[in-house]
Amino acid sequence: MQQQRYAQITGWGKYVPDKILTNHDLANMVETNDEWIVQRTGIRQRHIRTEKDTNTSMAVAASKEAMTVAGITANDLDFILVCTSSSDYLLPGAGSTVQAELGAACGAVQLVAGCSGWAYGAAMASSLIQSGTYSTILVVGVEIVSHGLDYTDRSTCILFGDAAAATVFQVTEEPSGVLSFELGSDGDKAKSLWVPYGGSSQPINQSVVDEGRHFIEMDGQEVFKFASKTVAASLKRVIAQAGLLPDDIDLFIPHQANARIIEAGARLMRQPKDKFYMNLDKYGNTSAASVPLAMVEAIQEGRLKQGDKVAIVAFGAGLSWGAAVIQLGAGEISKAHSLFSLGHAKYLAKRTRETVLDTAQNIILPIAMRFSGKRK
Ligand code: ACO
Repeated sequence: MQQQRYAQITGWGKYVPDKILTNHDLANMVETNDEWIVQRTGIRQRHIRTEKDTNTSMAVAASKEAMTVAGITANDLDFILVCTSSSDYLLPGAGSTVQAELGAACGAVQLVAGCSGWAYGAAMASSLIQSGTYSTILVVGVEIVSHGLDYTDRSTCILFGDAAAATVFQVTEEPSGVLSFELGSDGDKAKSLWVPYGGSSQPINQSVVDEGRHFIEMDGQEVFKFASKTVAASLKRVIAQAGLLPDDIDLFIPHQANARIIEAGARLMRQPKDKFYMNLDKYGNTSAASVPLAMVEAIQEGRLKQGDKVAIVAFGAGLSWGAAVIQLGAGEISKAHSLFSLGHAKYLAKRTRETVLDTAQNIILPIAMRFSGKRK
């Protein structure tokens, strides 16, 4: 009988540019202030690329660290996925520039899914490994978001930063790795977060540049509403799909866009806030690098260890989202793995309780809030 294949994360690394842009620095550039940014977003500073940093150089620095941790060289790679919306060139894509710089001799491709990029990459790498197609895949999240920002637009320029983080996925027979995932897209909301000009549909010309329409444009409140709804709902689905309960998750790693979105997610999951990892105060929203950067730091800080189960969730341009439950290293894979066991019966009882509480949250609370609003 053929052994089941799992895709385990065996290597991780990061690169952040030296230059730091604080909220106070931004207050000298646009009409904003540290207090507003901290209260509304939780961000205190972000790293911005320097002259020596390119999308490729940052991706390669993070990848080399990840390959060292995994104990592999570029020759061992079967495939490279570079998740980014800020590649060095329109053509070739970031897959090829990173592959060349690493000296790898394998297929490589750029994956564009905004801030959901690494979640999409992890799901695709895991599927390629589990299907038996490849054994070792490098998945990088890298962004120079600062390149696409209008630093006179305070509604966007305060949010983002530049960074890279890389992960190596390798085949193993030990039950571990990506236990479940969900990928989603709601393209009807595309214009909530987009760069309207610069593509083949609306090319750049002088008047576009004069009007600054080649920069990122965002309807912050629309994205906020979408994210607040998506984070908990998507996490709940992937956790159930893995046969687990929210309490079984050791650490949640959400996209680092806004502390208020993350705290709302924790409340809706009925989980303590400190189980939701946050490093956005240091880096801001680094788009496709955000989730892997948080995961790398959580591992380096000892917040995540081998055998731990982590639930990740990302959302962004598209509007798109991706969530997954990932087990780092081997261990008991699921509390509900053995049907007809006492453990499974207990799981079903707890699952039912979660469903009842979710129903109350989704139906009863909004009705109660509407009535209390009418009485005022
Ligand atoms: N400094 C000071 N005041 C500001 C700033 C600023 N930087 N930005 C907006 N304001 C003002 C507004 O003009 C408004 O003033 P008014 O009441 O006089 O009209 C007031 O502050 C409130 O503005 P809102 O837009 O309602 O502020 P909100 O609380 O919604 O916060 C924010 C804005 C932080 C952008 C929030 O909507 C958000 O985080 N949205 C999600 C964005 C996101 O996550 N995007 C990334 C997605 S990932 C990807 O793929 C790239």
